Amino acid sequence: MLLPRVVAVALAVRSAAAVEVEVGADGALHDVAARASKDAAYPMDAASRRFGAQLLASRLNASDLDGDFDRVVRPALLGACGLRDERRARPGKGNTGHCFADWNHVDCCTMALETADSENRGKVAGIAASNFLGDGIRAASVEALGDGGSWCTCTMGSAKSPPGDVCHVQFNARPAFKVVWCPEDLGRFVVVDDAGNKLAQGRPTGRLPPADQRRANAREFANSKYSLPCRPRASASSGAI
Ligand SMILES: *[C@@H]1O[C@H](CO)[C@@H](O)[C@H](O)[C@H]1NC(C)=O
Repeated sequence: MLLPRVVAVALAVRSAAAVEVEVGADGALHDVAARASKDAAYPMDAASRRFGAQLLASRLNASDLDGDFDRVVRPALLGACGLRDERRARPGKGNTGHCFADWNHVDCCTMALETADSENRGKVAGIAASNFLGDGIRAASVEALGDGGSWCTCTMGSAKSPPGDVCHVQFNARPAFKVVWCPEDLGRFVVVDDAGNKLAQGRPTGRLPPADQRRANAREFANSKYSLPCRPRASASSGAI
């Protein structure tokens, strides 16, 4: 009975180990804490964890994001967010199987852990009034990425001004990044920070989130700064040469 347990534990910590290696490899994440400053508008912003997640996301390349969606891409996104790839735990107890797998759970929210137990008391329209996430966040969050926790929160409302999504409104934190499927080509996605800067992009293979989910995601971000990086050679690079 012992061996399967050991194997299960080893699988559960695989993404955590990847982050450890990343942290140790060039020391870049050690500088992150010094550079990170909390966003005053979002008092529960876990700034150094957010910068760490953004740094990891910006390092994701075609090997990570053009691979098989379920085996390679989703685990890479989870790892960048500081979340374990945990498919066996019960929902609410650290299971991250839904993260980045539908239209809505695509925000990587990095928050101070004191806020992780805050409930959504009707603040976000359409989200259950009592969704207690703290236990799951603690179980799923990789400690190596720094203070605070991570969760794949619902992005619904994030393209509004001011943003009305779960990370900003319920957790009073800033998302490190979000995954935006491209309206012109639903086989592609971009990973963007909260200001709409592109951190990475992917064209995964295998079994993607269902087309209606990708379409709903693209619709959520239509005409917002978040889907601008989908456009080839967006204006940002036009003045470079
Ligand atoms: C992606 O990055 C990894 C590590 O940084 C590297 O080993 C790999 O060759 C890169 N892949 C591509 C396609 O550039």
